Amino acid sequence: MQIVRTAAELRAALAGATRTAFVPTMGNLHAGHVSLVELAKRHGTPVVASIFVNPLQFGAGEDFERYPRTLDADCGKLDAAGCDLVFAPDVAEMYPVPQTYLVQPPDALANDLCGAHRPGHFAGVATVVTKLFNLVQPHVAVFGKKDFQQLRVIRDLVAQFNLPIEIVAGDTLREPDGLAMSSRNAYLSAAERIQAAQLYRALAEVKTAIEAGERDFEALATRAARCLKMAGWRVDYVAVRDAATLAAPAPGCRLVVLGAAWLGATRLIDNLEVDAPPAP
Ligand code: PAF
Repeated sequence: MQIVRTAAELRAALAGATRTAFVPTMGNLHAGHVSLVELAKRHGTPVVASIFVNPLQFGAGEDFERYPRTLDADCGKLDAAGCDLVFAPDVAEMYPVPQTYLVQPPDALANDLCGAHRPGHFAGVATVVTKLFNLVQPHVAVFGKKDFQQLRVIRDLVAQFNLPIEIVAGDTLREPDGLAMSSRNAYLSAAERIQAAQLYRALAEVKTAIEAGERDFEALATRAARCLKMAGWRVDYVAVRDAATLAAPAPGCRLVVLGAAWLGATRLIDNLEVDAPPAP
């Protein structure tokens, strides 16, 4: 596996590539990322992973500085997973001049759910992903469903800018107690880690109730948020949405239950797609 740090090295390494499959990451990789690389291998070759902690998608006071940088361990995992090339630029390589041109998702998406609590986050994501797409020029790009709203933003970005890139979604991997794998789980204390699966369980209860025919989505989400608050969480949101658009559910649409909440200083997100349509 080759590791490159600059755009010029990346371009040289990819000369002649015809069906590049790309997995963008911020590093501190876990089994969920490895599964995305394995998925990418089924869709193209070479498989390129990027590792870049993107300052543009972190707000003031967020965890940009403390976000774990574990390049050597990450490269070991990527190599073992069969990744061919790692692009690990530094901030000056990605942003040689201040990034004054931004890719701004529409307000309805950018300022909703996670965006309502992380102003500018999705513009930061859309901008860096556009830059990475231009640098890597992949045929296929793989994103995890754990960042469900991010996946929506990327799919819309690719469609509306006519980017010739197929977006493939990878399922969320979970710990045995249901906690979604996330780089941010590393922040949890031992006691918080025991509690952390409560977010998954709260969303799972909403999903189960909907699959059993419950139709008052608002009440279900409010009850789930209340349970989390009583257990000591600070809840950003629990919501039931149209899984395709993330808008308020229209009758008969596919649904997704999403949540974001803080356990101490750690913000966790999760989501569960609802299997059955709501009962008539
Ligand atoms: O999902 C992530 O790790 C990041 O948001 C991404 C897509 C690599 C952009 O920085």
